[in-house]
Amino acid sequence: MTAPDRYAVAGNPVAHSRSPHIHSLFARQTGQTIDYGRLLCPLDGFVPEVKAFAASGAKGCNVTVPFKFEAFQLASRRSPRAELAQAANTLRFDPETQGGWLADNTDGVGLVRDITVNAGVPLAGRRVLLLGAGGASAGVLGPLIEARPAEIVMANRTVEKAQAIVARHADWAAQHGVRLSARGLADAGTGTGFDVFINGTAASLAGSGVPVGPEVLKPGCLALDMMYGPAAQAFLDWARAHGGVARDGLGMLVEQAAESFAVWRGVRPDTAPVLADMRALVDAASAH
Ligand code: ATR
Repeated sequence: MTAPDRYAVAGNPVAHSRSPHIHSLFARQTGQTIDYGRLLCPLDGFVPEVKAFAASGAKGCNVTVPFKFEAFQLASRRSPRAELAQAANTLRFDPETQGGWLADNTDGVGLVRDITVNAGVPLAGRRVLLLGAGGASAGVLGPLIEARPAEIVMANRTVEKAQAIVARHADWAAQHGVRLSARGLADAGTGTGFDVFINGTAASLAGSGVPVGPEVLKPGCLALDMMYGPAAQAFLDWARAHGGVARDGLGMLVEQAAESFAVWRGVRPDTAPVLADMRALVDAASAH
């Protein structure tokens, strides 16, 4: 019997990651045999750690905070969506004879799929507010544009960071007929409210609440935090209190994992049963 193909999630910290569980569910469902673990990398030692993992025969890895930018730099080939994000959450260790390592970013497509398929909320023609201009928000802007909303506003505490990311995506937005602009937090809600509000900031983690006013929400709009579990709770409570339909980042997590699985294994798992399983797990953990 040959040994299973090996993968891992590389990050720091990484002990909390749900990715090994998600990928084991995908593998079982698709009848594939893989071994998916955790790779804790020193903050100044991501590159040697991942190179050693690949040299040991592993086939690829997911990459999480804070190494997504380094992962992007490391690969010899990059998908167009990784190029736009300038960050990668997926590496495939293809041999040099096949072009070398591929860097991809599946976060954005995972988010779009969670919104349009799992939540059943269309993005085409809608107004979208994307809060934050860190790695999480930058990573999803390209695929959000591809979903062709009428408008995307990227709002951030440090407006210059949002302006730089918006400038990098300007051509992409023009090609897709999307009005794209950057704002500070104070004028994030200027004009009519938004149909979809996505929180990609670390504000909930910092315990400082939602950094914009409820005027950003149209009644019944979708308000999604990319985090899940206790880290997302304050945002979800706020969204519900102001008439929004609240959603956490668990669906995005499962969908980005499914896309990574497809990049590596050539088959896309059915995410619905896995999301249900994860929801039960996270709810049980939150109840303790
Ligand atoms: P990540 O890679 O997870 O996105 P990051 O790159 O550190 O993390 O980005 C964090 C984001 O949360 C940034 O948009 C940050 O705003 P600044 O660019 O102005 O720093 C935002 N953020 C963090 N704490 C915040 C707070 N208390 N209020 C508003 N925005 C906050």
